[in-house]
Amino acid sequence: MRKLAAVAFGAAAVLALGACAGEGAGGGGVEGGETLAPEDVLVGVSMPTQTSERWIADGEAVEAGLEELGYDVDLQFANDDIPTQSQQIDQMITNGADVLIIAAIDGTALGSQLDAAAAAGIPVISYDRLIRDNENVDFYVTFDNYDVGVQQATSLLQGLGILDADRNETGEEGPFNIELFAGSPDDNNATFFWNGAMETLQPYLDSGVLTVPSGQTDFEQAAILRWQQENAQRRMEDLLTSTYSDGTELHGVLSPYDGLSRGIITALQGAGMGPSLADGLPVVTGQDAEIASVKLIVDGVQFATIFKDTRLLAEQAVIATEAYVNGGEPEANDTETYDNGIKVVPSYLLESVIVVADNVEPALVETGYWTQEEIEAGQAD
Ligand code: BGC
Repeated sequence: MRKLAAVAFGAAAVLALGACAGEGAGGGGVEGGETLAPEDVLVGVSMPTQTSERWIADGEAVEAGLEELGYDVDLQFANDDIPTQSQQIDQMITNGADVLIIAAIDGTALGSQLDAAAAAGIPVISYDRLIRDNENVDFYVTFDNYDVGVQQATSLLQGLGILDADRNETGEEGPFNIELFAGSPDDNNATFFWNGAMETLQPYLDSGVLTVPSGQTDFEQAAILRWQQENAQRRMEDLLTSTYSDGTELHGVLSPYDGLSRGIITALQGAGMGPSLADGLPVVTGQDAEIASVKLIVDGVQFATIFKDTRLLAEQAVIATEAYVNGGEPEANDTETYDNGIKVVPSYLLESVIVVADNVEPALVETGYWTQEEIEAGQAD
């Protein structure tokens, strides 16, 4: 069934691509059904920022995979600045890119770039973050972002002792006080993470096992623009002042990204909590298995992260690119979930893993993601 649907969609997309290419401005472009020689292929890879190590690793892994196929690669990082990203993509199109791979800063801000890409017959692969409100997104490679949110909330419940390692209820009734953080509101993933997490936490909020003493339970209240660590730290400091200075105890914090987690932990420790979980530091979750956070997990400071193997994501982006270059269509494993506001974008979803101190070794070291030395140093080589 799934395969049939993907093939049917693929045929439609090839037709659409062919039509676009016909109207093209004459730039590079992969025209429907035509195969390009590897040495003639230029792929534009646009990544959001170098402030978070995952995006550097993503960019470099995509670049290496494409170069192995003999393609030329134009890899750019945009400093988390929307005009910079738009301009870098414009330049890629002008330079004759044949395929674009884009991890957007603001998922709604690239409309004119995507229109120009379509006019030039250039397929666009949305990388990790869905580009919204434009029909010219051809394919999406990502993780199961709703499930990442479920895992984040699950790790919080495990850290509080409400669930055990196998996700079974322990009978622990708390009540526990928690606070909630969400990602950047312009990143489509942030809502998926939030929805997955909140639907997992809701039964416990309803039953009173969990309480949010600040009352800040809306996405808008919890969101941290551009995923900025210092803004998360400031919000946590404000919450501690407004809600916890009377001695109310805080037991856990839902954090959707390791950078935010470290800002939150700094605020908590600054208020005299911890410094480690064993000393009463609240349970803080995370995402991305960033090296600094993996060290904090091993040191018993941050409770958990979610490991998304970016090497596998990069591999899927390379496979999708190769399909376009060979005149075909990438194969999706999900054709229902990711509606970008205009259309459902065929997607390839990968799975993620909860990492706590106990499984750092098998999940991150044995898979070759980080070495033991890097973890001890808290720094990538
Ligand atoms: C990614 C996360 C990352 C976050 C901040 C999201 O779009 O899916 O892996 O933590 O951006 O960079």
